[in-house]
Amino acid sequence: MIEVSHLLKSYRDLKAVSDVTFKVEKGEILGFLGPNGAGKTTTMRIITGALPPDSGTVKVAGFDVFENPMEVKRRIGYLPETPPLYVDMTVRAYLRFVAEIKGVPRKQRNGEVDRVAQKTNSDKFIERVIGNLSKGQRQRVGLAQALLGDPEVLILDEPTVGLDPAQIIEVRELIKSLAGRHTIVLSTHILPEVVTTCQRVLIISQGKVVADDTLQGLQRAQAGAVTADGHAGPAPSLEEIFLKLTSA
Ligand SMILES: Nc1ncnc2c1ncn2[C@@H]1O[C@H](COP(=O)(O)OP(=O)(O)OP(=O)(O)O)[C@@H](O)[C@H]1O
Ligand SMILES: [Mg+2]
Repeated sequence: MIEVSHLLKSYRDLKAVSDVTFKVEKGEILGFLGPNGAGKTTTMRIITGALPPDSGTVKVAGFDVFENPMEVKRRIGYLPETPPLYVDMTVRAYLRFVAEIKGVPRKQRNGEVDRVAQKTNSDKFIERVIGNLSKGQRQRVGLAQALLGDPEVLILDEPTVGLDPAQIIEVRELIKSLAGRHTIVLSTHILPEVVTTCQRVLIISQGKVVADDTLQGLQRAQAGAVTADGHAGPAPSLEEIFLKLTSA
């Protein structure tokens, strides 16, 4: 469903993303991990067509992001690291506006706005002005706009950041419930979230892919690597694997 190949992106002399290649199968939830500044947001912005790479290609559902941007944008819901919310609008007006841009037919817009507001627990403050919402409430509106139109692919850049514990659980459950029908790339710094939500893990460090496997596959590989006597050691935690692969 998503094919990223040989992406390269530099900011002046900084290689933010160098030769990143991976695939995400239909219905899969990919946990996208890496330390601060590793290139996660840059990669996600390139996948959604928000940022052109220096070289490399991205295909979503068979469409090239830069040759067929409209076909791709129609299929992607994107929660950016900082959602571009219009502070003067009410939540409802904003969601209606995004639904219109995304091409949700006029007759379905109201129902679709209610649906995503309910899914993200934003319905309690749907009539309020976005500028007066708390950080977590805004994050939920950001997630709601990503779900509008029920896109096949969701690119979620730290979806639970700023949420309270109850909302974190709700959003995790929501993301899990979308698996199968939707293809999801999820970046987060909360590693237990990856363990409970994602089937596959991609770790990048300094712009390069350093791991791409199932959690079990990673644990097997890393357990084998730590003992010299041929016996697999105890399965390392994702934290241990992350620290080992990203401390260069
Ligand atoms: N617009 C920009 N101009 C210059 N440098 C940038 C720009 N955007 C990102 N960078 C740099 O590119 C690198 C990768 O940044 P990116 O935002 O992709 O990291 P990230 O993995 O999302 O990190 P975090 O976990 O902190 O969100 C960083 O070194 C960052 O400082
Ligand atoms: Mg980021």
